[in-house]
Amino acid sequence: MKARILCYDRVLSTQDLARELVTSGVRATMGTVIVATEQQRGRGRHGRTWLSPCGGLYASFILTPDPLLPFLAGVALAQALGELGLCARLKWPNDVLVAERKIAGILIEVIDRCAIVGIGVNIEQAPLPTATCVWAEARGSITRDTLLRSILDNLDSVYAEGILEKYCALSATIGRKVRIELATAKDLKVICGKATGIDRSGRLLIETDEGSHAITAGECIHLRFDRDERDG
Ligand code: BTN
Repeated sequence: MKARILCYDRVLSTQDLARELVTSGVRATMGTVIVATEQQRGRGRHGRTWLSPCGGLYASFILTPDPLLPFLAGVALAQALGELGLCARLKWPNDVLVAERKIAGILIEVIDRCAIVGIGVNIEQAPLPTATCVWAEARGSITRDTLLRSILDNLDSVYAEGILEKYCALSATIGRKVRIELATAKDLKVICGKATGIDRSGRLLIETDEGSHAITAGECIHLRFDRDERDG
């Protein structure tokens, strides 16, 4: 990907910097990537905080919106980690796991006809005990720059046919027993069942004792016999 890369040491949030760039009226922001080694106010999905200690890879890519972007970004990131020797799998929709623990997350926001794809990868340390990081999982030392270059190359190459097939091949969710939590303004709806696949729109297909569901959005928790596995 031909990108204009803007690098910072410490920022509040690369996602917010990208948003400011998009709304500032500066032309030709498409293809810009904002990268930082530390965030003081990193944001995750569902309004959560993304803990962003020094030494991680925190990047926001300004791209053309596409309904399959959550899957394209997930596949690009998992493939990039795979090329560097890590066995990365995707938890629906696009959390990246290594050895069943979260190593990276993706937050996509659309503003002014631009998609801001925020990618956070734990490199030197895992900020939570339930998470992992690149240095704990990789045999050799992998640098942030190498990983960023590999993500950019993979973002280029996944814009091709068959993205959902590639996504399914990397899925850690399909075939698993899962709990889906759908928060509405009023309450929390919970669906428990087996994840059986992804449809052409990227919806997660769940079979329960009561019937089938196609899930567009929500929190997906992989279930084990004795405990849940929430995000790291
Ligand atoms: C998730 O909740 O799993 C998504 C985490 C996304 C974090 C990235 S780090 C770069 C960008 N800047 C942010 O504030 N958030 C995203």
